[in-house]
Amino acid sequence: MLVKLRGVSKAYGGTIAVHPLDLDIAAGDFLAILGPSGCGKTTLLRMLGGFAAPSSGTIEIAGRDVTRDGPEKRPTNMVFQGYGLFPHMNVRQNIAYGLKLGRVAASEIDRRVSEMLRLVRLDDFGNRAVHELSGGQQQRVALARALIMQPQVLLLDEPLGALDLKLRKEMQGELRRIHRSLGGTFVFVTHDQEEALGLANRIAVMEAGRIVQQGEPRAIYREPATSFVSTFIGDANLLKGERRNGTVALACGGMLASPGRDGPVNVVIRPEALQLGETPRISGIMTDLVYLGAYTKLLVELDDKTEIAVHVPDGAVDPLPSPGARVAIAWQDRDVRCIDAA
Ligand SMILES: Nc1ncnc2c1ncn2[C@@H]1O[C@H](COP(=O)(O)OP(=O)(O)OP(=O)(O)O)[C@@H](O)[C@H]1O
Ligand SMILES: [Mg+2]
Repeated sequence: MLVKLRGVSKAYGGTIAVHPLDLDIAAGDFLAILGPSGCGKTTLLRMLGGFAAPSSGTIEIAGRDVTRDGPEKRPTNMVFQGYGLFPHMNVRQNIAYGLKLGRVAASEIDRRVSEMLRLVRLDDFGNRAVHELSGGQQQRVALARALIMQPQVLLLDEPLGALDLKLRKEMQGELRRIHRSLGGTFVFVTHDQEEALGLANRIAVMEAGRIVQQGEPRAIYREPATSFVSTFIGDANLLKGERRNGTVALACGGMLASPGRDGPVNVVIRPEALQLGETPRISGIMTDLVYLGAYTKLLVELDDKTEIAVHVPDGAVDPLPSPGARVAIAWQDRDVRCIDAA
């Protein structure tokens, strides 16, 4: 493992921003740290980069204990949320900054800056002032400025947060491309679950200073460890149930097969795993429908008053039922996840 965190925590006075946690990051990983505002993502990233000292635990990078080392002694580089570009320097000067400090020869700096400008597709922008750039272009300069130092681990704190949706998608594509072509290790903080799913090969989900689940995007989406994870990653319908001898009886009516211990369970069913059924499992009254292009979202109130969402792919059901109609809903048990309730 390239990066090993053991028992790493951070307390600010009485508040614990990060509870003691272990985290391994493999070389070449694109790890997304995902979680709601205030859950400790930035704090964790700052500890990785040497910008905040852990209250406990050790951080090892590339076989070396860097727990007490400052940022300049670590093989890491961080892109901050506000970009932190130097306003009085042009694009080339911004990107060259770290190499200049390191007393690299001018010709070498020139060559590497040009290479970086190409990489982030800003070939023609080298002499522009920072304030003459769009948000997305500034973002690329910040990225180039960090990448030129060839960090073993690149730390990115919500780097796309300030961009509009279209630019955000574009930059996500760029980041993927850059990660593929350079092959380094990226640690990426976001509170956007779609971004995490689309970019990362591993996701660590944080809740209130703890990593509550980590794994591949698909595993986290399909097998969320807790109800929190299921609702935070993707849309999820949460139903209450009671398991007896491998069969769960849902509070809203209906049964499903699910091996495990007897007792209360939270049942997670993704809206796209539900169909308007020929062989219905449950039924309810459709209260609303929202056309979203690729699919239509139907809201259905079940007999126990729980509201659930059903995504119907565009054109799959024609005509769609009207609000007020009783609809029957089906699913495959393999698409359902039952989480033992505490
Ligand atoms: N320097 C500090 N002094 C005191 N408390 C802090 C400090 N930095 C962070 N905290 C607290 O630690 C907790 C975690 O903060 P952190 O910035 O890591 O959250 P985050 O997950 O990055 O949130 P966001 O998504 O809003 O950026 C918060 O409760 C925050 O108020
Ligand atoms: Mg933050």
